[in-house]
Amino acid sequence: MDYDYWAERIEKNIPGLMSQNEVKFIMRCVKSSPRKGYCVNLGTYLGKSTAAICAATSQEVITMDTFKYTGRLGQSSPKLVRANLAKLNLNANILVHSTSAKVSSIVRKVSFLFIDTHHTARQLNAELDIWLPYMAARGVIALHDYHRKYPGYVTTIDTRLKKHWEFLGLHDTVIGFRKP
Ligand SMILES: C[S@@+](CC[C@H](N)C(=O)[O-])C[C@H]1O[C@@H](n2cnc3c(N)ncnc32)[C@H](O)[C@@H]1O
Repeated sequence: MDYDYWAERIEKNIPGLMSQNEVKFIMRCVKSSPRKGYCVNLGTYLGKSTAAICAATSQEVITMDTFKYTGRLGQSSPKLVRANLAKLNLNANILVHSTSAKVSSIVRKVSFLFIDTHHTARQLNAELDIWLPYMAARGVIALHDYHRKYPGYVTTIDTRLKKHWEFLGLHDTVIGFRKP
């Protein structure tokens, strides 16, 4: 896979607060995850991280957001995300759903999980409680904004993932782990 080519195309076509280094690392994490299972993105916004995941896999991609957030780049919607992904001939299953609500009817095994929602200990703990049981053997998790400006979030990552899972790397603020 040509990571530079895809990172540039994603950068040109989909707005978002994520560097090309981060996009490339997400794609690498997806590529190194098991071949069977869903790839899940918690926190879609305008679809940048979702595009990175879709570009790196032919497995089903599920992307979830409440679409209630109005960020610096404006309001998003499933329609807007669909249109952004279509610019790159990509496609995902877009769910308007809280990432900390039960999902058992939606998902079975997850091979890759990307987390980028509300960066607090409370939110991340709720998401990990729900999603970790779905992770496939050797499944991969990547998280955005591993940065000291979110101390509770960082401590939760250190305690629940860094101590027990295989560390795959930290690129700008995206950190990745593989289930042991
Ligand atoms: C930083 S943005 C995600 C950026 C996105 N990953 C990208 O590549 O541009 C965070 C998103 O998380 C969503 N969000 C926050 N808390 C949520 C929750 N509990 N359930 C679903 N979505 C949530 C917000 O609506 C917002 O769109």
